[in-house]
Amino acid sequence: MSTTRIAQLTDLHVIDFADLRPRDMATKRVTGWLNHRLHRSGAHDMQVLDAAIAAVCEDGPDHLVVTGDLTNLALPSEFRAARLRLDPVVRSGIPVTAIPGNHDVYLAGSVGVLERELEDLLAPEAGDGGGWPRLLRIGPVSLVHVNTAVATPPFMAWGRVGDEQLARLERVCSAERDAGQAVVIAAHHHPDRAPARRSDERRNLRDGPALRALCRRCGVDLLLHGHNHHHQVRRLADAPSTVASGLGSASLGLAARPEKRAAVGRYTFSGPRLTGLHFRMWDATRDAFSPWVEVSLDALPAPGRDAPFPGLA
Ligand SMILES: [Fe+2]
Repeated sequence: MSTTRIAQLTDLHVIDFADLRPRDMATKRVTGWLNHRLHRSGAHDMQVLDAAIAAVCEDGPDHLVVTGDLTNLALPSEFRAARLRLDPVVRSGIPVTAIPGNHDVYLAGSVGVLERELEDLLAPEAGDGGGWPRLLRIGPVSLVHVNTAVATPPFMAWGRVGDEQLARLERVCSAERDAGQAVVIAAHHHPDRAPARRSDERRNLRDGPALRALCRRCGVDLLLHGHNHHHQVRRLADAPSTVASGLGSASLGLAARPEKRAAVGRYTFSGPRLTGLHFRMWDATRDAFSPWVEVSLDALPAPGRDAPFPGLA
């Protein structure tokens, strides 16, 4: 039986202010820029990102999906810099696709900039009305790319799939399932809850319950996301047959807790069946990624509860 391996990186947060203009100081970009200056400067380390990209090249999966936040302020210069950083993967012959995160749609219209600058990283449109979701078949695995990113007011980072995209998504997932394919959804925002946060209202997925219900109805096998900068693998409470996996930011090397540091994900399918969850995590004591560690599918906790972080097990 054929084996298909899908790799995941998320939240690259490539910073390049070359296209920052004085007029941007009158937009939400000013809060993002200040946040970067005050809190994030030095946190997102491009050497860590390059090591994550090298780890993907070395492993040679069948596909790499980047689950959003490729940039910090959605500047054209940042999209170009992010694309350049991913070039080693493309040159290795590993197909790469990406979806937008909240940082990639900082302003209304930013998603158009992403679609222009990262055109060769976009999967084909799948919905009957065009646009998102986008679909790529990788052997027996159907990778469905969803856009949850919305231009929000300052200090807000919530997302939404939206009724129209949800309707198209249901048709696409059902058709792929009926065709005997494994169904994998890539969406930036977490579909359920952020770990260790008291209030999630400013940054959650507003129609997360609808997405989870869709996962249950369509038998979605795997949902890959980012946004939380936190390693979080679990079965969805409302859709226990769906495994959800969120990773730490691929450029975060010195986060306070190991589960928030950079990670590389690898998901293995035997035919259309999900059979393996493997991860490499950034080891700040060695300035290198750990060897691959497995999170056992058979040992995942009760739906809604996170698997123990592999580095702490
Ligand atoms: Fe992020």
